[in-house]
Amino acid sequence: MKDKYILVTGGAGYIGSHTVVELLKAGYTPVIADDFRNSNKNVIDGIARITGKLPVYEEVDVTDNAALKVLFERYDFYGIIHFAAYKAVGESVADPLMYYRNNLLSLISCLELSEEFNVPNFVFSSSCTVYGAPDEVSVDENTPLKEANSPYGATKQMSERIIEDVHGSGSKTGFIALRYFNPVGAHPSSEIGELPIGKPNNLLPYVTQTGAGYLEQLTVNGNDYNTADGTCIRDYIHVVDLAKAHVKALNWLEKNPGRFEAVNVGTGIGSSVLEIVNTFERVSGIKLNWKFGPRRSGDVEKIYAKIGKSRDLLNWTAELSIEDAVRDAWNWEKKIRNV
Ligand code: WQD
Repeated sequence: MKDKYILVTGGAGYIGSHTVVELLKAGYTPVIADDFRNSNKNVIDGIARITGKLPVYEEVDVTDNAALKVLFERYDFYGIIHFAAYKAVGESVADPLMYYRNNLLSLISCLELSEEFNVPNFVFSSSCTVYGAPDEVSVDENTPLKEANSPYGATKQMSERIIEDVHGSGSKTGFIALRYFNPVGAHPSSEIGELPIGKPNNLLPYVTQTGAGYLEQLTVNGNDYNTADGTCIRDYIHVVDLAKAHVKALNWLEKNPGRFEAVNVGTGIGSSVLEIVNTFERVSGIKLNWKFGPRRSGDVEKIYAKIGKSRDLLNWTAELSIEDAVRDAWNWEKKIRNV
């Protein structure tokens, strides 16, 4: 069978690396394009230990159109999965231009080359932040997009609009924007996982680093929300389930050429911050050192996914639980901290 080359930009990153594993298992030939500014080369070996196959990787800045074009001339890409982007909400507020330049130029560079080389399938890494602070707490793909809460969220809204306009201009490429809810966990083998650079912004890595004694104490941001335990609710999805959704998206595009769809990728279940803390304590047997602190600005009180479209269109639903995700994240943390 002819190699189905899939360009995976940011493929050495957290979600990218887990997706490369699933692509290899599904018989595709991923080509990782990453400049390792936010990732680590030993992820490549981790993928090889899981799959028995050493993925092809090219060290390249995805915003550099000329450099990226060399890959399009070298490989006849059957698809593109575009992950390469910055994703820290707080950092984007502090440095919006870095986010607009990197997140939009990398997408535009991929789209220009996808059009030039007629790549049939394009999957985009979008985010539930495109919903802003929605009126309903359980959102589906028709929920009106409110104003983004951060420059990061704005880049995801703009990126979806850019893709929609390229599609509307008569592109022969099929596009799917996957709107991730909160990715958590690590591969059950503990060969790959999340490697936040510096102090983590996100909840679960902060919990596991605190549990490992790497960080002193977790601050729970706010306990006066209108929820059962007063803390914010999110839809936490295991990164392996999320990775599998990308393969399902490719499968759908192969059968439905030239379409454009945005699809939520979540579990449909909301979990509070304290539920995550309690799950960690139960799974690890460790009493976590935490305290309540003030609300974090920009936080949405409650958001979780309506999952009908991912089930009906992609024939995909999450299979792993929040317990699985916390267990896998904790095993990964213990491995990288040698605890
Ligand atoms: C979850 C809850 C925090 C840290 C962001 C992006 C989103 C996606 C996932 C990329 C909130 C609370 C956190 C801490 C805490 N990324 N928290 N103490 O903000 O829902 O989503 O990451 O796609 O696009 O916006 O995730 O994990 O930062 O926060 O209490 O030390 O945990 O206040 O209520 P968030 P998060």
